[in-house]
Amino acid sequence: MRARQAVRAWAVELGFSLVDQTKLVTAASELARNTVVYGGGGAMGMEVLEDGARTGFRLVFTDTGPGIPDIPRALTDGYTTGGGLGLGLSGAKRLVNEFAIQSAPGEGTRITVVKWK
Ligand SMILES: Nc1ncnc2c1ncn2[C@@H]1O[C@H](COP(=O)(O)OP(=O)(O)OP(=O)(O)O)[C@@H](O)[C@H]1O
Ligand SMILES: [Mg+2]
Repeated sequence: MRARQAVRAWAVELGFSLVDQTKLVTAASELARNTVVYGGGGAMGMEVLEDGARTGFRLVFTDTGPGIPDIPRALTDGYTTGGGLGLGLSGAKRLVNEFAIQSAPGEGTRITVVKWK
């Protein structure tokens, strides 16, 4: 809930369209929920990007949970180990411009997403 509120507030502040605000909030919600459900809790970092005339918003989700052993499989629509829909990661990926997962068994998970305005 806090992740959703913080991302919404910043997306508004940065002037993202209503559609893009919703995409960002939805992606953040899914990724934050995974850190809680699978990672044992974690952190979300937010960063504003300036690239020439472009403004972007970067979100980084980190946890020190068990990690994701097979990243391509975790990104497959419908794959879940927790009885969910298995659409959180794949859905979040489709809602942003850049999406990267760093994870290894026993080393936790870091997911970085960027959306450009
Ligand atoms: N932070 C994480 N740490 C460890 N494993 C993770 C993490 N995030 C995702 N996973 C693994 O990837 C799988 C797919 O995640 P995804 O969010 O797509 O689906 P889900 O959480 O199972 O269901 P939902 O559609 O409700 O989000 C999870 O079931 C879990 O096995
Ligand atoms: Mg999920």
